[in-house]
Amino acid sequence: MRKKVIAGNWKMNKVPNEAIEFISELAPLVKDTENEVVLCVPYTDLFYSLLHAQDTNIKIGAQNMHYEEKGAYTGEVSGEMLKSIGVEYVIIGHSERRAYYGETDETVNKKLKKALSLGLKPIVCVGESLNQRESGEAKEVVTTQTRLALEGLKNDEVEKTIIAYEPIWAIGTGKTATKEDANETIKWIREEIEKIYGKDVAESVIIQYGGSVKSGNAKDLFEMSDIDGGLVGGASLDAQEFAKIVNYDK
Ligand code: 13P
Repeated sequence: MRKKVIAGNWKMNKVPNEAIEFISELAPLVKDTENEVVLCVPYTDLFYSLLHAQDTNIKIGAQNMHYEEKGAYTGEVSGEMLKSIGVEYVIIGHSERRAYYGETDETVNKKLKKALSLGLKPIVCVGESLNQRESGEAKEVVTTQTRLALEGLKNDEVEKTIIAYEPIWAIGTGKTATKEDANETIKWIREEIEKIYGKDVAESVIIQYGGSVKSGNAKDLFEMSDIDGGLVGGASLDAQEFAKIVNYDK
Protein backbone atom coordinates (compact mmCIF):
# COMPACT_ATOMS: atom_id res chain seq x y z
CA MET A 1 0.00 0.00 0.00
CA ARG A 2 1.39 3.36 -0.99
CA LYS A 3 1.11 6.11 1.61
CA LYS A 4 -0.84 9.24 0.76
CA VAL A 5 1.37 12.29 0.89
CA ILE A 6 -0.44 15.61 1.19
CA ALA A 7 1.92 18.50 0.69
CA GLY A 8 1.20 22.21 0.79
CA ASN A 9 3.19 24.44 -1.53
CA TRP A 10 2.98 27.93 -0.11
CA LYS A 11 4.86 29.43 -3.07
CA MET A 12 5.85 33.05 -2.25
CA ASN A 13 3.48 33.47 0.67
CA LYS A 14 3.72 33.93 4.46
CA VAL A 15 6.38 35.48 6.68
CA PRO A 16 7.76 33.57 9.70
CA ASN A 17 5.14 34.84 12.16
CA GLU A 18 2.40 33.66 9.85
CA ALA A 19 4.13 30.32 9.38
CA ILE A 20 4.35 29.80 13.14
CA GLU A 21 0.72 30.75 13.60
CA PHE A 22 -0.31 28.41 10.80
CA ILE A 23 1.59 25.44 12.23
CA SER A 24 0.08 26.04 15.69
CA GLU A 25 -3.38 25.97 14.16
CA LEU A 26 -2.75 23.01 11.86
CA ALA A 27 -0.91 20.68 14.24
CA PRO A 28 -3.85 19.68 16.49
CA LEU A 29 -6.13 19.31 13.46
CA VAL A 30 -3.92 16.75 11.70
CA LYS A 31 -2.28 14.96 14.61
CA ASP A 32 -4.30 11.76 14.13
CA THR A 33 -3.92 11.32 10.40
CA GLU A 34 -2.07 8.41 8.86
CA ASN A 35 -1.33 10.51 5.81
CA GLU A 36 2.04 12.22 5.45
CA VAL A 37 1.63 15.96 6.04
CA VAL A 38 4.20 18.25 4.43
CA LEU A 39 4.48 22.04 4.20
CA CYS A 40 6.81 23.41 1.55
CA VAL A 41 7.50 26.93 2.72
CA PRO A 42 9.63 29.87 1.52
CA TYR A 43 13.33 29.73 2.47
CA THR A 44 12.88 32.51 5.04
CA ASP A 45 10.24 30.43 6.86
CA LEU A 46 12.16 27.15 6.89
CA PHE A 47 14.03 27.43 10.16
CA TYR A 48 11.09 28.84 12.11
CA SER A 49 8.78 26.22 10.67
CA LEU A 50 11.17 23.38 11.48
CA LEU A 51 11.48 24.52 15.08
CA HIS A 52 7.77 24.98 15.45
CA ALA A 53 6.84 21.66 13.81
CA GLN A 54 9.37 19.74 15.89
CA ASP A 55 6.95 17.87 18.14
CA THR A 56 4.26 17.40 15.52
CA ASN A 57 3.70 15.05 12.58
CA ILE A 58 4.12 17.96 10.14
CA LYS A 59 7.14 17.65 7.87
CA ILE A 60 8.84 20.69 6.37
CA GLY A 61 10.07 21.08 2.81
CA ALA A 62 11.67 23.69 0.55
CA GLN A 63 10.37 24.69 -2.87
CA ASN A 64 13.63 24.51 -4.82
CA MET A 65 17.36 23.88 -4.41
CA HIS A 66 20.56 24.17 -6.42
CA TYR A 67 22.38 21.06 -7.62
CA GLU A 68 25.84 22.33 -6.66
CA GLU A 69 27.04 22.17 -3.08
CA LYS A 70 28.38 25.73 -2.95
CA GLY A 71 29.97 28.42 -5.03
CA ALA A 72 29.36 31.62 -6.94
CA TYR A 73 25.61 31.24 -7.50
CA THR A 74 24.17 34.46 -6.12
CA GLY A 75 20.73 34.01 -4.64
CA GLU A 76 20.76 30.23 -4.71
CA VAL A 77 20.40 27.72 -1.87
CA SER A 78 22.01 24.28 -2.00
CA GLY A 79 20.63 20.93 -0.94
CA GLU A 80 23.42 20.74 1.65
CA MET A 81 22.16 23.98 3.16
CA LEU A 82 18.63 22.61 3.38
CA LYS A 83 19.87 19.39 4.89
CA SER A 84 22.02 21.25 7.45
CA ILE A 85 18.97 22.81 9.11
CA GLY A 86 16.90 19.63 9.04
CA VAL A 87 14.69 20.15 6.00
CA GLU A 88 13.18 16.83 4.90
CA TYR A 89 11.42 17.46 1.58
CA VAL A 90 12.16 19.55 -1.50
CA ILE A 91 10.03 20.36 -4.53
CA ILE A 92 11.97 20.09 -7.79
CA GLY A 93 10.95 21.34 -11.23
CA HIS A 94 7.67 23.03 -10.39
CA SER A 95 6.08 24.35 -13.60
CA GLU A 96 6.43 27.93 -12.30
CA ARG A 97 10.18 27.40 -12.03
CA ARG A 98 10.27 25.78 -15.46
CA ALA A 99 8.29 28.69 -16.95
CA TYR A 100 9.85 31.69 -15.16
CA TYR A 101 13.33 30.62 -14.07
CA GLY A 102 14.67 28.48 -16.89
CA GLU A 103 14.35 25.13 -15.13
CA THR A 104 14.86 22.35 -17.69
CA ASP A 105 14.55 18.58 -17.70
CA GLU A 106 18.34 18.52 -17.37
CA THR A 107 18.49 20.76 -14.27
CA VAL A 108 15.58 18.83 -12.77
CA ASN A 109 17.55 15.61 -13.24
CA LYS A 110 20.69 17.11 -11.66
CA LYS A 111 18.74 18.49 -8.71
CA LEU A 112 16.93 15.20 -8.20
CA LYS A 113 20.19 13.23 -8.12
CA LYS A 114 21.66 15.70 -5.66
CA ALA A 115 18.61 15.67 -3.40
CA LEU A 116 18.59 11.86 -3.28
CA SER A 117 22.32 11.71 -2.56
CA LEU A 118 21.72 13.93 0.48
CA GLY A 119 18.73 11.95 1.74
CA LEU A 120 16.27 14.76 0.99
CA LYS A 121 12.84 13.56 -0.14
CA PRO A 122 12.19 15.04 -3.56
CA ILE A 123 8.80 15.94 -5.02
CA VAL A 124 9.34 16.24 -8.77
CA CYS A 125 6.68 18.08 -10.75
CA VAL A 126 5.57 17.16 -14.26
CA GLY A 127 2.57 18.34 -16.25
CA GLU A 128 1.32 19.51 -19.62
CA SER A 129 0.01 22.90 -20.79
CA LEU A 130 -3.54 23.46 -22.00
CA ASN A 131 -2.37 23.52 -25.63
CA GLN A 132 -0.58 20.24 -25.17
CA ARG A 133 -3.63 18.67 -23.51
CA GLU A 134 -5.97 19.90 -26.24
CA SER A 135 -3.71 18.73 -29.05
CA GLY A 136 -3.43 15.24 -27.58
CA GLU A 137 0.20 15.57 -26.49
CA ALA A 138 -0.31 15.22 -22.73
CA LYS A 139 0.86 11.61 -22.58
CA GLU A 140 4.01 12.30 -24.55
CA VAL A 141 4.80 15.40 -22.47
CA VAL A 142 4.38 13.85 -19.02
CA THR A 143 6.08 10.56 -19.85
CA THR A 144 9.05 12.38 -21.42
CA GLN A 145 9.38 14.74 -18.45
CA THR A 146 9.24 11.75 -16.11
CA ARG A 147 11.81 9.73 -18.07
CA LEU A 148 14.26 12.64 -18.29
CA ALA A 149 13.83 13.58 -14.63
CA LEU A 150 14.63 10.01 -13.52
CA GLU A 151 17.42 9.36 -16.04
CA GLY A 152 20.41 7.57 -14.52
CA LEU A 153 18.72 6.83 -11.18
CA LYS A 154 18.94 3.41 -9.56
CA ASN A 155 15.75 1.52 -8.75
CA ASP A 156 15.89 2.30 -5.05
CA GLU A 157 16.35 6.00 -5.84
CA VAL A 158 13.32 6.02 -8.10
CA GLU A 159 11.32 4.41 -5.29
CA LYS A 160 12.27 7.30 -2.99
CA THR A 161 11.17 9.92 -5.50
CA ILE A 162 7.70 11.43 -5.24
CA ILE A 163 6.22 12.67 -8.48
CA ALA A 164 3.55 15.36 -8.59
CA TYR A 165 1.43 15.41 -11.73
CA GLU A 166 0.34 19.02 -12.05
CA PRO A 167 -1.39 19.98 -15.29
CA ILE A 168 -0.32 23.59 -15.84
CA TRP A 169 -3.82 24.65 -16.87
CA ALA A 170 -5.20 23.51 -13.51
CA ILE A 171 -2.73 25.45 -11.35
CA GLY A 172 -4.27 28.44 -9.61
CA THR A 173 -7.14 28.49 -12.07
CA GLY A 174 -9.87 26.80 -10.07
CA LYS A 175 -10.08 24.27 -12.93
CA THR A 176 -9.32 20.79 -11.69
CA ALA A 177 -8.58 17.83 -13.92
CA THR A 178 -11.42 15.33 -13.67
CA LYS A 179 -10.56 12.53 -11.32
CA GLU A 180 -10.64 10.14 -14.28
CA ASP A 181 -8.24 12.25 -16.37
CA ALA A 182 -5.89 12.78 -13.44
CA ASN A 183 -5.88 9.07 -12.67
CA GLU A 184 -5.34 8.10 -16.30
CA THR A 185 -2.42 10.51 -16.68
CA ILE A 186 -0.84 9.24 -13.47
CA LYS A 187 -1.21 5.70 -14.84
CA TRP A 188 0.71 6.78 -17.96
CA ILE A 189 3.49 8.04 -15.68
CA ARG A 190 3.47 4.75 -13.76
CA GLU A 191 3.60 2.73 -16.99
CA GLU A 192 6.59 4.76 -18.16
CA ILE A 193 8.37 4.02 -14.88
CA GLU A 194 7.47 0.33 -15.23
CA LYS A 195 8.98 0.19 -18.74
CA ILE A 196 12.34 1.37 -17.46
CA TYR A 197 12.53 0.27 -13.82
CA GLY A 198 10.07 -2.63 -13.62
CA LYS A 199 6.70 -3.26 -12.04
CA ASP A 200 7.78 -3.34 -8.39
CA VAL A 201 9.35 0.10 -8.62
CA ALA A 202 6.40 1.52 -10.58
CA GLU A 203 3.93 0.18 -8.04
CA SER A 204 5.79 1.70 -5.12
CA VAL A 205 6.39 5.22 -6.46
CA ILE A 206 4.14 7.83 -4.85
CA ILE A 207 2.50 10.00 -7.50
CA GLN A 208 0.46 12.99 -6.36
CA TYR A 209 -2.03 15.15 -8.22
CA GLY A 210 -1.79 18.94 -8.04
CA GLY A 211 -3.86 21.75 -9.54
CA SER A 212 -6.74 23.47 -7.73
CA VAL A 213 -7.05 20.77 -5.07
CA LYS A 214 -9.40 21.89 -2.30
CA SER A 215 -11.43 20.29 0.47
CA GLY A 216 -14.40 19.92 -1.89
CA ASN A 217 -12.57 17.74 -4.42
CA ALA A 218 -9.75 16.11 -2.42
CA LYS A 219 -11.68 12.97 -1.48
CA ASP A 220 -12.80 12.25 -5.05
CA LEU A 221 -9.27 12.67 -6.36
CA PHE A 222 -7.33 10.91 -3.61
CA GLU A 223 -9.60 7.86 -3.61
CA MET A 224 -8.67 7.06 -7.21
CA SER A 225 -6.53 3.96 -7.68
CA ASP A 226 -3.31 5.70 -8.74
CA ILE A 227 -3.49 9.11 -7.04
CA ASP A 228 -1.38 9.05 -3.90
CA GLY A 229 -2.32 12.38 -2.38
CA GLY A 230 -1.76 15.91 -3.57
CA LEU A 231 0.44 18.93 -3.94
CA VAL A 232 -1.75 21.81 -2.85
CA GLY A 233 -1.14 25.48 -3.62
CA GLY A 234 -3.77 28.11 -2.76
CA ALA A 235 -5.81 25.86 -0.48
CA SER A 236 -2.75 25.14 1.66
CA LEU A 237 -2.57 28.76 2.82
CA ASP A 238 -5.52 28.33 5.18
CA ALA A 239 -4.94 25.92 8.06
CA GLN A 240 -8.60 24.87 8.43
CA GLU A 241 -8.96 24.22 4.70
CA PHE A 242 -5.63 22.39 4.44
CA ALA A 243 -6.54 20.25 7.47
CA LYS A 244 -9.77 19.20 5.72
CA ILE A 245 -7.74 18.12 2.69
CA VAL A 246 -5.32 16.14 4.86
CA ASN A 247 -8.27 14.56 6.68
CA TYR A 248 -10.18 13.79 3.47
CA ASP A 249 -10.48 10.16 4.58
CA LYS A 250 -11.93 10.87 8.03
P1 13P B 1 -3.12 25.48 -6.76
O1 13P B 1 -3.53 24.43 -5.77
O2 13P B 1 -3.18 26.87 -6.22
O3 13P B 1 -3.81 25.31 -8.07
O4 13P B 1 -1.55 25.25 -7.03
C1 13P B 1 -1.10 23.98 -7.37
C2 13P B 1 0.37 23.97 -7.32
O5 13P B 1 1.05 24.56 -8.14
C3 13P B 1 1.01 23.25 -6.22
O6 13P B 1 2.37 23.09 -6.44
